[in-house]
Amino acid sequence: MQSTKLNAQITAVGMYVPEKVLDNKYFEEIVETNDEWIVSRTGIKERRKMENGATSDMAAFAILDLLKTTSVKAEEIDVIIVATVTPDMFFPATACLVQDKIGAKNAWGFDLSAACSGFLFALQTGAALIESGRYKKVIVVGSDKMTAISDYTDRNTCILFGDAASAILLEPTEDLSTGLIDTLLFTDGSGKDALNMKGGGSLNPSSHETVDNKMHYIYQDGKAVFKVAVKGMADISYEVMKKNNLDSDDVAYLVPHQANLRIIDATANRMGISKDKVMINIHKYGNTTAATIPLCLTEYYRAGKIKKGDNLILAAFGAGYTWGAAYLKWSID
Ligand code: COA
Repeated sequence: MQSTKLNAQITAVGMYVPEKVLDNKYFEEIVETNDEWIVSRTGIKERRKMENGATSDMAAFAILDLLKTTSVKAEEIDVIIVATVTPDMFFPATACLVQDKIGAKNAWGFDLSAACSGFLFALQTGAALIESGRYKKVIVVGSDKMTAISDYTDRNTCILFGDAASAILLEPTEDLSTGLIDTLLFTDGSGKDALNMKGGGSLNPSSHETVDNKMHYIYQDGKAVFKVAVKGMADISYEVMKKNNLDSDDVAYLVPHQANLRIIDATANRMGISKDKVMINIHKYGNTTAATIPLCLTEYYRAGKIKKGDNLILAAFGAGYTWGAAYLKWSID
């Protein structure tokens, strides 16, 4: 028997950002930097810090926020995928902690680690579970507590990152012209030395030495990453657009990972997309790693700026290297 073909569509969204704001002035007081440098080089004005709680708490708050907007109950969720590089612990998976916190007693779940591309990798994974016909309600949540691994004496990195979580609900549709239509995803592990956190894993187990050498913090060679990220994100976004026979006029929004406004501008230029069609919230939240893209989607949707049927191009680049782009037709009224 031929089984029905299915697409995965986003049917609800939710978000959580902690209350505590770290503005650029805060960083002027702790490292040698200034507001003008940070804004002109990155586009960031503020970011958030989770003071009490962990990645699983932010993820759970984002999912509970989502569940308030849909008739779907926590017990009906089949799968929870948590995209994160800042799990509460090595194990159990953050997804287990989230499952318990939201009372999703019939769900299974797992964590997915693809750094700033985490949401796109998790979106494709969740969509594949839906398309298989086996699962009907999949939560994908990007949640990262980047302040937990930021070195507040390193001006090169500490100004860049913030904490947030955002979640989507994926459900099946038989209308193959809507939902997640295409993704292009890539990994190139030869980029491992440019952006990483070396300590605490099986290669460099935690020790006094790993702490003394600051190996439990983000390390980034900013210039090296910038160069490949600009080209990687611009090329892949253009490619997914062309592959699906879309012109810039057909695209309602580019939804880029929020790492650096200059990388975002270069991507929009390559696609021939004007600034008003680029989702931006980097000025408010900085780089929240796996949370940036769903956070943009949630904020723009709630502001009434996305409508059903809009063509969205999602794009990200991150540690690994990992990168990718997706073509999504918006499904919520
Ligand atoms: N305040 C003031 N000066 C700073 C600074 C800060 N917060 N951070 C770095 N600098 C200095 C550097 O030390 C350097 O000084 P030097 O020339 O005396 O050594 C100078 O500013 C220029 O540094 P550079 O690295 O050329 O800056 P940049 O224009 O590349 O911007 C980043 C730095 C980190 C903002 C940028 O490289 C970047 O965004 N990289 C990619 C991030 C990314 O996309 N990551 C992937 C996804 S997570």
